Amino acid sequence: MPLTSAATITPARRLRGRLRVPGDKSIAHRYALLAALADGRSSFTNFAPGADCRSTLACLRHLGVEITEGPARAVVVVGRGFGQLRSPDGPLDAGNSGTTLRLLAGVLAGHAFTSTLVGDASLSRRPMRRVIAPLERMGARIEATDGHPPLVVHGGPLRAIEHRPETPSAQVKSAVLLAGLHADGTTTVVEPAATRDHTERALRAFGGTVGVDGLAVSVSGGQRLSAQTLTIPGDFSSAAFWLVAAAALPGSHVIVEDVGLNPSRSALLDVLRRFGARVQVDVTATEAGEPRGVVTVEHDRTGSLEIAPIEVPGLIDELPAIAALAAHGGEVSVRGASELRVKESDRIAALVAGLRALGIDADERADGFVVRGPASGMGRPRGGVADARGDHRMAMAFAIAALGAETPSRIDGADAVGISYPGFFETLDRLVR
Ligand code: S3P
Repeated sequence: MPLTSAATITPARRLRGRLRVPGDKSIAHRYALLAALADGRSSFTNFAPGADCRSTLACLRHLGVEITEGPARAVVVVGRGFGQLRSPDGPLDAGNSGTTLRLLAGVLAGHAFTSTLVGDASLSRRPMRRVIAPLERMGARIEATDGHPPLVVHGGPLRAIEHRPETPSAQVKSAVLLAGLHADGTTTVVEPAATRDHTERALRAFGGTVGVDGLAVSVSGGQRLSAQTLTIPGDFSSAAFWLVAAAALPGSHVIVEDVGLNPSRSALLDVLRRFGARVQVDVTATEAGEPRGVVTVEHDRTGSLEIAPIEVPGLIDELPAIAALAAHGGEVSVRGASELRVKESDRIAALVAGLRALGIDADERADGFVVRGPASGMGRPRGGVADARGDHRMAMAFAIAALGAETPSRIDGADAVGISYPGFFETLDRLVR
């Protein structure tokens, strides 16, 4: 589907308000997949409303899973039981969602039928050798076009492996662990750096056993999972845009309630403190191993930030928001983030081009970027037209950056926000009022 609509962003002095953000996308994908493999009927509330998780549900339906959706973002998944997905009668469309495609490839590797995973133009450009290689070592056969989707997965009996990915990736780790559930023996992934651990926490919540020893994560094959009733916390990566805007704009005060606070996702909070914001965090509950709570951010000072390579895995989806932070003043420099080039867009190129189009000083590096906001007393960027390049996080980053401009700006391809955050622009309107 072409994402062509434009949004106009009117400059704003500050953001104030209390809000909730849509359910966490990473967690929702995993709960849906595990529920499909579990015995019994799982129910979730606050299921992520964006197009990415809809793609996961559509693929699962195509694999014979009965799924119903109700009010309050309720989703009921009737598990088919371990290894019991049904051979689909056509391609499985992951849309824009790398998580859907990579995690499903892991699940399908262990099912004794052939299935084809396809995606949109963006997903069809993204690298898949990182999942194909380990899944083939386990015994599946996967056809691709030069390492890109469509993937034709010939699944079957799998053997356990130890996998040491070169690049930190929660999607790769999760694909191998999900395949490992179907393998003979104990499968281990040893990561080069820690990535988000929702799969590990979700597996335990669904009754599975997961071994964690430093950067090594193991699962044994043949485990049965049991259905669960769970509420999904708000998506920290969606909240990030409001937290950053509150840190950037003097006089701002934003409270995000019921947001996921998994430590493998929340490194942005310390980054905002380093920048000079006042940040308060209250963990109110933990469900299925996932802490959640209230985050309050107030502008205080405007600083400079250097994001080091070691910090990147913990901030991978927040780096576009962090770039928007510096658009208002201060400076942000990011290194060791070449993975951004293979996300929904080449996020290094897209960010720098979009910020420059808004009149903000930004430069690309091979593995990162530098954004220099206007020095105090130097006036505001002029504003302009930024192209989201079909990437939801670009659209939201440019919207936050454009709040600090002198004149209204236009974000082309703004409806990409529907991938993770339907209603983003309506919430923005409310918070700037
Ligand atoms: C995700 C992992 C990250 C992240 C993506 C969601 C996940 O990707 O960028 O938005 O849900 O596992 P990589 O694991 O490829 O870094």
